[in-house]
Amino acid sequence: MNQPPSQPKSREQWGTRLGLILAMAANAVGLGNFLRFPVQCAGNGGGAFMIPYFIAFILLGIPLMWIEWGIGRFGGKYGHGTTPGMFHYLWKHPLAKYVGAIGLTIPFALVIYYNYIVSWTLAYSVFSLTGKYAGILDFRGMADFLAAYQGKISNNYFPNIMTAFLFFCITHFCMMWIISRGVSKGIERLAKTAMPLIFVFGAILVIRVLFLGTPDPALPENNIANGFGFIWNPDFSMLKESKVWLAATGQIFFTLSVGFGAIQTYASYLKPKDDVVLSGVATSTTNEFCEVILGGSIAIPVTVAFFGLAQTKTIAAGGAFDLGFFAMPIIFQKMFLGQVFGTIWFFLLFLAGVTSSVAMAQPIMAFLQEEFKTSRRVAAWIVGTMTFFFTLPVIFFLKHGFLNEIDFWIGTFGLVVFAILEVVLFIWVFGAANAWKEINSGADIRLPRFVLPLMKYVTLAYLVALMVFWFIQDGWGVLTMKGVSAADYPYIWFARFMLIGIAAFMVFLVYIAWRKPHVIQRRVPE
Ligand code: TRP
Repeated sequence: MNQPPSQPKSREQWGTRLGLILAMAANAVGLGNFLRFPVQCAGNGGGAFMIPYFIAFILLGIPLMWIEWGIGRFGGKYGHGTTPGMFHYLWKHPLAKYVGAIGLTIPFALVIYYNYIVSWTLAYSVFSLTGKYAGILDFRGMADFLAAYQGKISNNYFPNIMTAFLFFCITHFCMMWIISRGVSKGIERLAKTAMPLIFVFGAILVIRVLFLGTPDPALPENNIANGFGFIWNPDFSMLKESKVWLAATGQIFFTLSVGFGAIQTYASYLKPKDDVVLSGVATSTTNEFCEVILGGSIAIPVTVAFFGLAQTKTIAAGGAFDLGFFAMPIIFQKMFLGQVFGTIWFFLLFLAGVTSSVAMAQPIMAFLQEEFKTSRRVAAWIVGTMTFFFTLPVIFFLKHGFLNEIDFWIGTFGLVVFAILEVVLFIWVFGAANAWKEINSGADIRLPRFVLPLMKYVTLAYLVALMVFWFIQDGWGVLTMKGVSAADYPYIWFARFMLIGIAAFMVFLVYIAWRKPHVIQRRVPE
């Protein structure tokens, strides 16, 4: 059996097991849980959505979680916190490390737009507190408020984009500051504060929602029971539609943060004998609690109670932002102590978001520290500066569909491709027996045998089917820019070149790194 060389002394580790699980959960719990999930669920069959959702959770989510934790801890033993180094040991081929560059590209490209959205939640939390949007009680008004904030239009609330830019700078600085403090003192500490706060804030909001009753006695239909009914009553006829299955599976990926390259990095800070089986499950269930119980009980039910069923359908069809940034601020104004609840809601989103941003930025941090031997501080400066500049087009070209284009290729399509590659490399190339041993080593509970064929065939086949369907349903349209106005073509092309540029740059960094003796010397003794 190959023995890893002794652990490089400089590698960081998680402080405690609880801290590790909270950090992993904080990685997974994000805007997806509170904004994306309720909208997807309500729009794709309500309670019936939970069927494909849980099937995807069992067949894809959990197996991928174990695979990524396994790959991550394995790489950590060789001093590699990112997929180029990890794949290098899984597949002894010169190309392996370049395939691993995808695991740097995806989180890097993700953080440049996700972090910007996170900054909106911070801004709205402040606006709730100060009553900035007070008095805007209709949908159109709230939509204009957001559009002006984002610099798409200008009105007397926001003459230009500078407020948004300022909040982005604050959010960005918070993220970089946490990362520069390191894994245990920065990320873990943040998670230990933020996760309990997310639970408490979430619980406060859910309880508030449960006691809403019928806000307007003149409209008895608009009540909280119907709100829960709307999100949970199953419409089984929807299960015939492939789009529902794709949506459910996509949501599982997004919410668990699998297929992004970020879980592997966090897992690389495990000790070689730390359990991955039970911890992986604990993290996933924590995420599901925050998603299904907390996320499912706030935004949608409350919107039905205040706006009624028909309008909630329209709002949900408009997407996660319509629900979170238009409907919710109006509702808070109609609620006793709404200013406080509004602040809590957006601050909850901010905490959930910033702990995810940090997770997205960590892979490239680890890469610079380990393969280029930069100090943590310098790495944080480099990552901070690079992500800052790459976010600028996202901010200033938002109205041209720049963000959506990146989101599709990275946040929807790219992660399935990456997941396929890692399953193939780990289970097929590295070998089922080795992979199995790797996952189960140090485990508090051993996995039942059927999980191996499940990963080897079912998970993989499911992923390939997903990729094909996705490409047919959405990919082709996005690729050929269906529905994009000709004026926006140059921006979309710019977005694509930027993505290709980022990928090429990561490949280049890997190329340079692998010429360094300290990277090569970690090669497994044959
Ligand atoms: N899971 C996060 C959410 O629900 C989003 C996310 C997707 C993410 N991929 C990630 C977070 C990678 C950290 C790292 O919002």
